[in-house]
Amino acid sequence: MLVRIPSLLTPEEVTHCRGLLSRSDWVDGKVTAGGQSAKAKHNLQIPENAPAAREMGELILGKLGRNELFTSASLAMKVFPPLFNRYDAGMSFDTHIDNAIRFMPASLTGGASVRVRTDMSCTVFLTNPADYDGGELVVLDTFGAHQVKLPAGDMVLYSASSRHHVTAVTRGSRWSSFFWVQSMVRDEAARQHLFELDTAIQSLRKSQGDTVEVVRLTGLYHNLLRRWADS
Ligand code: NI
Repeated sequence: MLVRIPSLLTPEEVTHCRGLLSRSDWVDGKVTAGGQSAKAKHNLQIPENAPAAREMGELILGKLGRNELFTSASLAMKVFPPLFNRYDAGMSFDTHIDNAIRFMPASLTGGASVRVRTDMSCTVFLTNPADYDGGELVVLDTFGAHQVKLPAGDMVLYSASSRHHVTAVTRGSRWSSFFWVQSMVRDEAARQHLFELDTAIQSLRKSQGDTVEVVRLTGLYHNLLRRWADS
């Protein structure tokens, strides 16, 4: 599954984030990579507990919570606190797979440490495509290679089970936020069926209203969710 979520952030919010990022300290991106992906990863990040990261993370989590497309596509149970990275000219992230489980330390949760199963990966673009060359996110799945390069403020949500890479930036600098979602529905096919069904029901509701059939299909959706979801 690969879903584009347009305008998660407004242009003003992107400008605000870019201002905070431009005043942040950047460290080697290998700090959050596992052994195999550390070898593939050549970029910069801001430390996960930096105040700017926390402020922007709260902003993004708030926007996600109000975004119907994100809710429908992810059926999110937990969202890892957003991280922020940049690729300057010459930087890239070779093909890798994201760790299946990530730990949110107590310093990030404000309580006990929490494990997050990474069902889906997310990237929020914070640089407009005209401002850099290269830097495409390429997601590999059974349907082939999907190149993703979106306007600033847009987000892509894709299966964390897929291998992916970021091609080398050859001009400018690509800034983004990235994080992971643990879904209530662990099974990827079931999650996709629910998204497809929900999308069709929402479209039917708009064109036909809450007819008897629409209410029956809505019931079917919730009964499947009840069957497949953990809470
Ligand atoms: Ni990755």
